[in-house]
Parts: sequence; C-alpha cells; structure tokens
Amino acid sequence: MTDTLPEHVRRNRAEWDRWAADYVANGERSWRLEPGEETWGVWGIPEASVGLLPDDLDGLDTIELGCGTGYVSAWLARRGARPVGIDNSEAQLATARRLQAEHGIEFPLIHGNAETVPLPDASFDLAISEYGASIWADPYRWIPEAARLLRPAGRLIFLVNGTLLMLCVPDTEDTADARLLRPYFGMHRFEWPDDESVEFHLGYGDWIRLLRENGFDVEDLVELRPAQDATTTYPFVTIEWARSWPSEEVWKARKRA
Ligand SMILES: C[S@@+](CC[C@H](N)C(=O)[O-])C[C@H]1O[C@@H](n2cnc3c(N)ncnc32)[C@H](O)[C@@H]1O
Repeated sequence: MTDTLPEHVRRNRAEWDRWAADYVANGERSWRLEPGEETWGVWGIPEASVGLLPDDLDGLDTIELGCGTGYVSAWLARRGARPVGIDNSEAQLATARRLQAEHGIEFPLIHGNAETVPLPDASFDLAISEYGASIWADPYRWIPEAARLLRPAGRLIFLVNGTLLMLCVPDTEDTADARLLRPYFGMHRFEWPDDESVEFHLGYGDWIRLLRENGFDVEDLVELRPAQDATTTYPFVTIEWARSWPSEEVWKARKRA
C-alpha cells in the first residue's frame, strides 16, 4: 500500500517510476556484460581494475537492495550466485523482467522497500547495492535491514556518491564545484529543488559507527578514481574533479560471525 510507505520511499517511488525509461539503455548495455567485463558507476570503471566483487560467488545467496534494471544481479548469476533483487519502482522492475527473459537469466524480483524486506533473517551471504538503497533509502533503516538479512560472516558491498562530492554539488545539481558548498557535520538527508526525490549521504564517521553498531566490521573503503580518458553522461561531475577527489566510494563490510 503506497500510503503506508515512509514519505521518502513514496516520493522516490514516484520519481523512479517516472525516470525508469531513461535507464533502459544503460540496463540493456550493462546486462550484456559477461564476467570480467562488468563496469561500475557513472564512469564505467572496470571490475577487472577494482575487484569489487568477491571472487568466490559460486553458490552464494545474494540480495541486491535497489536492483533497478537488475544488471548487477545478472552479473552475480553469471558468476554462479543465486540472486534476489528488490526495488521500489515497478517501472524499473518491468525493464529487469524483460531483460531477464531476453538473456535467459531468471531470479526473483520483489517490488518493495529495501528498508523492510519481506524475507526471513539470515537468508543471504552477500547484500549489494550500486546507487540503489545505498543512496535512496535511509541508512539508519536499510543498514539494520541488511544486517538482519545476512548470515554470520555475510558480506555487504555498496557504492555511493563520494562524501566530498556531495558537499561540492550545488543545489541546482549542476557540476560539482572545487569548493565545499555545504556543511559536513549533520549530513544525512538531501533534497534538490528540481524534483521530489530524497537522497541520503553520510559522513565517514557516521558510516563507520552505523556499520559497527549493526554488527559489521568495515573491511575496505574503495575510493574509485576513473581513468584519464573515462567519460560520463551525468552532468554533476567532471573528469578533472573525479581525478582529483573521490566522486564514488565503495564500502565493503562483513557481518561479525
Ligand atoms: C540508479 S538505480 C540503481 C540500480 C541499478 N544499479 C541500476 O542502475 O539499474 C536506483 C534504484 O534504487 C531504487 N530505490 C530507491 N529507493 C529504494 C528503496 N527504498 N528500496 C528499494 N529500492 C529503492 C529505485 O527504484 C531505482 O531503481
């Protein structure tokens, strides 16, 4: 029931149902990538150069929190995992279902909020999110939920906008400045004047405390740096900015056994 959803989830559902058509082409391109060809984030950084995925995925139960068009889960399936995807947007899931059929890779897709997943405790070995729940859901709700869903020693891997980037992007969502435009202290909920969406971005100490309070050990924070000739279709960051400061960050954590 839409009217029982938290306000930010309801707003993000409406926006993502509206934006889904713009993400079809990227979904199609990303679904075609075979093991070893996967690329991450707005700069298309090769998995082969950053090694974000565990190398022992065979037989693991995985959940993608905010799976969108489902390509990350498709990559996991091709590497031997048993994925499940959950997403807040029925329109995004419609693309995911079509691409599943086209590629002959079927896995369960749930329409729902990654902050309250309708699945039992300790069902998964890996929870993953690339710009999904990781930025669109409230970390104070989705991190405890990821902890609940994971088995002891289960892994959590999520990709977010760089913390510094979120301090440098103007309210207009134009290109990031080389100056800090808003306070670091207190960062959590972000809204932009041009649309109804709600994002969440935390400072480093808050991320570490939140993860540890929910039973995770932080194993790595990978600050992604694009190659000099990398390109992006997103307007909010230039290659000069992203070569100087981390525009994308990947947290890797493991649930204490
Ligand atoms: C940029 S896409 C990322 C997914 C995937 N990497 C892709 O590009 O298709 C963001 C996705 O997060 C989903 N999302 C936003 N809030 C969510 C929530 N609370 N629970 C689950 N999914 C959510 C959106 O519906 C959207 O499909």
